[in-house]
Amino acid sequence: MKTLNINLTDANYNIYIRNGIIDNLEEEISKVYSGHKIVVITDENVEKLYYERLCSSLKKYDLYKIVIKPGEKSKSIETLTEVYSKLAGFKISRSDLIIAFGGGVVGDLGGFAAATFLRGISYIQIPTSLLAQIDSSIGGKVAVDLKEGKNLVGSFYHPKAVFIDPTLLKTLSTRFLHDGMGEVIKYGAIRNRELFYKVMNFKDDNELLENIEDVIYSCCSIKKAVVENDEKDNGERMILNFGHTIGHAVEEFFNYEKYTHGEGVAYGMYAITKNSEELGLTEKGTVLDIKKVLEKYNLSYNIEGLNNDKIIETAALDKKTRGEFINIILIKNIGECFIKKIKKSEMNKYLKV
Ligand code: GLY
Repeated sequence: MKTLNINLTDANYNIYIRNGIIDNLEEEISKVYSGHKIVVITDENVEKLYYERLCSSLKKYDLYKIVIKPGEKSKSIETLTEVYSKLAGFKISRSDLIIAFGGGVVGDLGGFAAATFLRGISYIQIPTSLLAQIDSSIGGKVAVDLKEGKNLVGSFYHPKAVFIDPTLLKTLSTRFLHDGMGEVIKYGAIRNRELFYKVMNFKDDNELLENIEDVIYSCCSIKKAVVENDEKDNGERMILNFGHTIGHAVEEFFNYEKYTHGEGVAYGMYAITKNSEELGLTEKGTVLDIKKVLEKYNLSYNIEGLNNDKIIETAALDKKTRGEFINIILIKNIGECFIKKIKKSEMNKYLKV
């Protein structure tokens, strides 16, 4: 088992990475939770595939479940209200525990419900998608979307532990495995050149899956270091958003129906690096390597039908905006990134698509 400890001023928790860990949770959970009642928040897909196994692994607890519909549309105030009602119906108290068992939507929504119900209940993340295992389950960002934009209502609220079982990825569709690879490539591009070229050189998805535990560990190690230095996202943590300003705008441009988060980020990394290479801020040839790795995982670097003005308009609302300025993340070369503060009037130069 690989373990990482996240050590913050007000929170300290472990990330456990092990094949088959969902079959052996009782001992680890009892180290962070001494009660009996657990509510599992999950979605219909994960419930069908893995809920029975989770139950067998948590026999000594009284389990309750809340099952939401899969997909980003569930990360809403409406679903959150339903979750609150169910928690109230189960008579959950502050000394009980929530487990968010699913992908990014379940993790963000379940975490936000835990952060706010009764002003805070302990929770544990058991992420089941690659994207959730390497990114959204770690670092305490929990949120729901508004119709005006993604993650607009949220909090920083850390879990008591994160349990990552790479074997769960075997049932992930190729599209969603590659969606997660968008974020893996991001980690390589900003902080780990070796990881970037390692995933670029895997023969195929089988070789990727054979090595996925190490890949997950590398990504989580980067996230740990960044979050420990800047938990509240005022400085260094922004680097985790490489490719995201354009990526989010692309997701929104297509109403969150055509491109997944990782696909948007993949395109965003390519587009911003193409611009920064042309502006002489990135070493020549870098964007070509990004293109090669995106091609390998079937991620788009060329998207038809985008409207540049609309993308810039949406990007201007990004959470990295500070008054008349916006912080953008660029890479100098593969493995080395920096934050650049630009005027909103210069956005077209850096963020054009
Ligand atoms: N997913 C970016 C962050 O956690 O800051």
